[in-house]
Amino acid sequence: MIIDEIIKDYKVAKEPLVKYLSLNKIDILEDGSISQKHFQTVLSFIEKQDNRIEKSLNGKNLGYFSPDNRIKIYKDDAISFLEKLPSNSVDIIVTDPAYSGMNNKLKLGKGRIVGKYSEKGTENGKWFGEFEDSEENYTKFLTQCQRVLKKSTGHIYIMFDSYSLLTLGNIVRNHFEVKNLITWDKVNIGMGHYFRRRHEYIIFATNGNTRKIKNRKFPDVWRFKRIHNSKYPTQKPVEVFQAMIHASAETDFVVCDPFTGSASSAIAAIKNNCKFIGCDISEKSIEVSQERITTFLNNGKDILQPNSASVEENIFWE
Ligand SMILES: C[S@@+](CC[C@H](N)C(=O)[O-])C[C@H]1O[C@@H](n2cnc3c(N)ncnc32)[C@H](O)[C@@H]1O
Repeated sequence: MIIDEIIKDYKVAKEPLVKYLSLNKIDILEDGSISQKHFQTVLSFIEKQDNRIEKSLNGKNLGYFSPDNRIKIYKDDAISFLEKLPSNSVDIIVTDPAYSGMNNKLKLGKGRIVGKYSEKGTENGKWFGEFEDSEENYTKFLTQCQRVLKKSTGHIYIMFDSYSLLTLGNIVRNHFEVKNLITWDKVNIGMGHYFRRRHEYIIFATNGNTRKIKNRKFPDVWRFKRIHNSKYPTQKPVEVFQAMIHASAETDFVVCDPFTGSASSAIAAIKNNCKFIGCDISEKSIEVSQERITTFLNNGKDILQPNSASVEENIFWE
């Protein structure tokens, strides 16, 4: 691996890296590379460099940053945000993309937000943009997810509705080892022309490794009540993300969500003592997330989800 490429790709400063190589008597070969056998040792050194993610992103985007810098949300497009992150820098990705397919193909209103969400301030009658879920775009997205996720320990959870699961779910296999398909049972029925919808899916996969989840009692059907009358459209229960993070994270792990929405995943990360880095393309998302996280950090109250979504029998993480 060429040193200059490591510096660019992993976003580390040259000076400490060269110093580390010299101290550890790792030779830089004639072509400017280090041998494969030393690469893993160098990777562990890179991982320990402070604020690698922050250095690569700071000052480039507007967003919300918590006072202790453990929570960072950028206003950005998911792919362009991921492209700015260093390789091998994120422990877990938990995400709920804004798929366009369900609306477009099933013709459920062309993706327009209706009712209270169509109020002034939304863009083109929509509160937020949709992620173009073509195979090409999704492949770009997953390539970046794989690059930023840690190779030895990384876990990824991606949420799908039934339409996007059938069109895009199989592509996840080209990038990750898919270990299971989790069903989120929302307890109460929702909309639907052919059977009322009561569930969504979550693909759980690892980044080419075998790190197990922490809790062996976890089933692959999760029951959490859907959020009714949410302030942010498509807001998911914090518990859905808590279940993912609880299964896969240790204290201080970096959790990433490139479709942050109302920051349910960020609140779940805080509850699990993890750091969080995410982005959303919508200005409204940043506003809502800032208010929600600030209040939660100040007084422990979740203004967007005051009540638990858990049903009695499945509080797996307690
Ligand atoms: C399904 S919502 C996420 C909801 C979130 N899980 C919650 O609980 O609030 C998807 C989010 O993706 C955002 N989005 C749409 N296109 C995007 C893009 N290209 N890059 C980043 N975010 C995008 C939308 O603004 C929306 O907030």
